[in-house]
Order: sequence, then structure tokens, then C-alpha cells
Amino acid sequence: MKLYKIINNISKFFSLRFFHAGLPVSYYIFNKIFNKKIINKKIENKNLQEFNKNGFVKLNINFKPEVDFIKKNIEFVNPDGKRQSYKINENIREQFKGMLLNKLKPLIGDLQDYYNSNIVVSNVLAWRTNYAEEFEAKNNMLYANHYHNDGYLVTYFKLFINLMDVDENDGPLHIVYKNKTKEFFKHANYRDQRNYNDIENNNLIYKNTGKEGESFLFSSPECMHKAGVPKKHRDIMEVVFIANTDANLKSEDINIFEKNENFVISTTKPYTLIKVFKTLLNHFNYKKNLST
Ligand SMILES: [Fe+2]
Repeated sequence: MKLYKIINNISKFFSLRFFHAGLPVSYYIFNKIFNKKIINKKIENKNLQEFNKNGFVKLNINFKPEVDFIKKNIEFVNPDGKRQSYKINENIREQFKGMLLNKLKPLIGDLQDYYNSNIVVSNVLAWRTNYAEEFEAKNNMLYANHYHNDGYLVTYFKLFINLMDVDENDGPLHIVYKNKTKEFFKHANYRDQRNYNDIENNNLIYKNTGKEGESFLFSSPECMHKAGVPKKHRDIMEVVFIANTDANLKSEDINIFEKNENFVISTTKPYTLIKVFKTLLNHFNYKKNLST
């Protein structure tokens, strides 16, 4: 195991115990400072006000036309398995990207004001989660079906688009209200993602049910979340956003159907303390330049 991974695990252990976050301590501190000093809490967009308060929000942007279009143009990469990835047909990728970015344009504008950063879409992917028996799901991490934080800085966040109607039986995303994390830890006796009691509590946990085409923005590094286990299956599309400090970078210039790991990791998943600090400094400078 590489040294940074060992340090990371120790750091995560402390973070879980003392800060109720499944993140390295340095990320937790970055996120605290970023929330306090960089983020614009006076944003007018009501959706983003709610996003700030809870760490997630069901958006009033409907993607039904885009979903109708994409569903005719996707196929499974793997025919079976608990999690099946979809491949988006190559010949419609550019057209779909255009439709998607066009619809997201006003939101991206507001997100730039909110994060005081440049905002781009780094990836788009789609997949299906399938039924699993209770015992199997409880003892195995089949598809992020145990409560966790995504191990990134707060500058990494996601939009989920329902590719079908999702009700309680379809294994919706379960997500803990940001400001109720501590209470969740207490009630669930949460130690880590393998060691907690699976509680049902609507005051602490929101389930992202909804109609096909509905969209849901969430801060996956800040909010504990898990995929529910569906009675049959659930189809979902994920759009990853990155708040960054490269003013010239545009989503249009990114191949959003690729993983773009180098970009995502270098901006939102730094491996050393120095890199975490530098990233924070870059965001302070970016914000300062915006106001001059
Ligand atoms: Fe996750």
C-alpha cells in the first residue's frame, strides 16, 4: 500500500470520529474554509439556497426531452452484474452534449456565482442498479449501497437525472441532510461504511424519488449517501461538476464522455497536504480577481 493511502486511511479514521465526515482531515478543513470564505451564500437562486442549507436540492430543471433522446441511444456495456454501465452511442454524443449543456447553461452561470469559481462539467455517465437480496446487499458493497462520502473536495459535486420514474421500491438515492450528519452518526451508530445500523428516519435522510427527467443536485463529499436496493432496477444518469480556477476552461472543450481522471483528480482529489493548500490558495486568488 502506498504511503499516502496509509496516511489517508488514518486521517479518514480521525475525521469520522471527530468531524463525522468520511474524508481525510485536510479535505474536511478545506471544505470548512471554502464554505465560510469562498462560497457566496447570498445567491438569489432559490434552488442553490436550499442546496447550501441541505447539501442537496431537487432542481426545477426538467430533462425529459434529453432523457427521451438518450434512452433511444444507449446500450449496456456489461449484460449482467449488479451494476450495469450504459454506453452512449458515439454518433449522438456531440448532439446530446449540446442539448445537455444548453439546458444547464443558466444553472452553470448561477453555480459560478455561488462557488466564486469557474464551473465545468467533467463527466457524464449512466448506469443501472439491479435487485440484490438483503443479506448480499448488507454484506457487500455492490454499488455504493452503504453510507459514505465521496472522497473529494467540496469543489466536486453531482447532478443526478432520473432515467425512469423512481419510487421507494426502485432503490432511490438515500442522502443525509448536511446539517443533520452528527445526529445521523449518533442514531445509526456509524463507525464506517461497513459498520453502522441501517436506520429509517425521514427527518435525517431524504430519498430521491421522482419522475423520469427530474434532476437532483448534491454535494457528494459533504452529504453521507448510499444507493438504495431496488425491487427490480433503477436507471440513472450522473453529471459531474468541477469548481476550478482555470477561467479559460469550458465544458464545451472537455470530452465529457471520458473519465478525465487527470483533470478531476488534480483539481478535486489532491494527494498531498501541499496540494490541498495550493488548491485553496488558488480559489482565494480566483475570488479576489473576480472582485477587482
Ligand atoms: Fe457516492
